[in-house]
Amino acid sequence: MDKKESFEIVGLGGKRTLTGKIEVKGAKNAVLKVLASSILFKDGFSLTNVPDTEDVARILELLADLGVTAERTAHDAYTIDTSKINNWVIKPEISKRLRSSVVLTGPLLARFGQVTFPYPGGCVIGKRPIDIFLEGFEKMGAEIVTENDSYKISVVGGKLKGTAIFLRVPSVTATETFIMAGVLAEGKTVLENCALEPEIESLGRFLIECGAKISGLGTPTITIEGGDLLAGAGKTYQTIPDRIETGSFMILAALCGKDIEIAGCEPNHVQSLIAMLSEAGVSLEVNENSIRVTNNKDSAEGKYRALDIKTHEYPGFPTDLQALAAVFLTQAEGESFIFETIFEGRLGYLETLNQMGANAKMLDAHRALVYGPTPLRAREVESPDLRAGMAYIIAALVAEGKSLVHNVYYIERGYEKIDDRLAKLGVSIRRIT
Ligand code: EPU
Repeated sequence: MDKKESFEIVGLGGKRTLTGKIEVKGAKNAVLKVLASSILFKDGFSLTNVPDTEDVARILELLADLGVTAERTAHDAYTIDTSKINNWVIKPEISKRLRSSVVLTGPLLARFGQVTFPYPGGCVIGKRPIDIFLEGFEKMGAEIVTENDSYKISVVGGKLKGTAIFLRVPSVTATETFIMAGVLAEGKTVLENCALEPEIESLGRFLIECGAKISGLGTPTITIEGGDLLAGAGKTYQTIPDRIETGSFMILAALCGKDIEIAGCEPNHVQSLIAMLSEAGVSLEVNENSIRVTNNKDSAEGKYRALDIKTHEYPGFPTDLQALAAVFLTQAEGESFIFETIFEGRLGYLETLNQMGANAKMLDAHRALVYGPTPLRAREVESPDLRAGMAYIIAALVAEGKSLVHNVYYIERGYEKIDDRLAKLGVSIRRIT
């Protein structure tokens, strides 16, 4: 669990020398929800292309505690059996550290008519309330009692009732939770103002394959016709490529690469980043399942241009790439403006980037200016969360000298064996315990 590990990274001092191919793993934010959906099944199913990350391990632990068994059949494959599930109390110790554990509430409530869970944890990125979940459950006929740090939710009559739910904010996990709740609810659930992230559509498609009646996936209005427990025998969920990992590698390649191929990705899912990097002057070759980033020989000395980014729900610019994009902007010429619209308090990493030599100015909790290009210096830094941690790895690589990135645990919540994979591109990175 909380292993005290760090990465020692020797920076390239602004040179773009890395070459080779890096394969994108399966999307953690897709697989976590599909694993949660196993609660809706009378039997179980298989999964492939599952990333070997801390978050996946934690959700499997939570499921095991509920009576779900998971057999690992290969490095990236599991077979899940939910026929003996017998518990609807989500273990507090683990779920407090894993925000996505909140998605277990929908299927548990739908299957058992009750669920007990603690206030969910996860990366510290501003306020992350669950009011939309609670209001939706109430509309579906549930009663909520709060006790100490936990919620006890039960459904009058034992079965959730389909209803119309308008999401005040197009929340990713709330959309997924209500889709799953609707699958076993009585009657029709109509969700409006849904999030459009590809992980949601991927979950929905798999549920349909296993017998769920869902329409409108990929649009803001999703309708679910409630029915019986799903049947997954013989079915396999193939995890979609991780678009945030894809984007992370694109930014890393733009800053440190000479010629890097990002393979096994879905370029359609990173269109906003392709647009941003292209506008900044990065040479990208976009193929069907891969993206090649080559050192830009056309622009003057391979310089990049400053630009403005504003995070937005999919297909807009992802908040999960905002910190990494900021590292890119420290190396772009001119003044860039960053506007984080999804989470409050997701700009805290800028202070560390400034200590590394960046010139960034926070305007308020959501907005910042970055002036570039500025050379970066090596430093000892602490990952505050998963994505900012990855941003620090990239900053350390751009910097001159040897950096230490602590709290590797956070980074490994979402990136599988990142040290080994980066080393193959020529990065000098060493794990220190
Ligand atoms: N919100 C509410 N009330 C709620 C739920 C959400 O006000 O009940 C607000 C949030 O405070 C936020 C906005 O809605 O301002 C959107 O948050 P959302 O609920 O969509 O975020 P999430 O579902 O908790 C997922 C990803 C995050 C990613 C966000 C935004 C998972 C497990 N997590 O979180 O991923 O940043 O969507 O795209 O799917 C990560 O992978 O590093 C990560 C943090």
